[in-house]
Amino acid sequence: MTSTAQFQDRMLSLGLARVSEAAALASARLVGHGDEKAADQAAVNAMREQLNMLDIAGVVVIGEGERDEAPMLFIGEEVGTGSGPGVDIALDPLEGTTLTAKDMPNALTVIAMGPRGSMLHAPDVYMDKLAIGPGFAPDTVTLEMNPAERVQALAKAKGCDASDITVCILERPRHETIINAVRGTGASIRLITDGDVAGVMHCADPTTGIDMYMGEGGAPEGVLAAAALKCMGGQIYGRLLFRNDDEKGRATKAGITDLNRIYTRDEMVTQDVIFAATGVTSGSLLHAVQREPGWLTCETLLMRSKTGSVRRINYRTPTHTV
Ligand code: FBP
Repeated sequence: MTSTAQFQDRMLSLGLARVSEAAALASARLVGHGDEKAADQAAVNAMREQLNMLDIAGVVVIGEGERDEAPMLFIGEEVGTGSGPGVDIALDPLEGTTLTAKDMPNALTVIAMGPRGSMLHAPDVYMDKLAIGPGFAPDTVTLEMNPAERVQALAKAKGCDASDITVCILERPRHETIINAVRGTGASIRLITDGDVAGVMHCADPTTGIDMYMGEGGAPEGVLAAAALKCMGGQIYGRLLFRNDDEKGRATKAGITDLNRIYTRDEMVTQDVIFAATGVTSGSLLHAVQREPGWLTCETLLMRSKTGSVRRINYRTPTHTV
């Protein structure tokens, strides 16, 4: 494989949209069917097939899991024709498998691509995350602050009351303490049952009404969210969390030496990237895949961090092409 060609993100981004579209369309027929695994598999197959048509020498750095756990799109898998630039790829063919199976909001297909070495090789462990949208000074909020301090600091920076702030949090028993602390400030909480890539992205889109995201979720999703915010603007901080030695071993294997490090957005994603997400179920960021007799239509958000450009692409295709 050659990796000396330059990362031409301008045209490549259009190819990336096709990859994201294909995964969403493939999983769409399984929306509401109660089968997470089948929906995920359909998305994985379609995403891999499309990725392998791109003229890239790609390596999956954030993928479906370790090589021995995931037959396809595993971490380290080489994708693309091999005749283009060397690129790192972070992907989640179906972010929100349960949301898809239950036809609940904000299931997405997500993929980011950047030059080789541009993305943190985050192991499949949890990450403590904190995100806000664009327009704030660095460290307006930090992971070292407690949840109430974060709300108050953001309210001060916005020039509003804590009660004007809305925080997005994954609804999990492990978040009971932070939920109570945030509510104690008078702020509102939008609880989500899954899908924290979308949760973080909400902070950078004022139409969603979300000001801040906090809580523990997947580390791979943290890197994908960092790639999204690199394009949209906004800050995210992440600290890897380890429950046992096996998880620490995964980090070591991924080349991580400082297990307590707090990563900023630009430390998780160190160079300009392109990012695509396609709606699978309806949500505040993207429409669901729409089905009408003989046709499927999907909506893709396609962004380049180099320029800050954002495209929304509507793609309608005959059902038999999917
Ligand atoms: P899947 O699509 O793999 O089901 O992940 C959904 C998700 O909600 C992520 O968005 C989030 O980071 C993670 O799961 C949270 O993990 P857990 O369900 O273990 O709390």
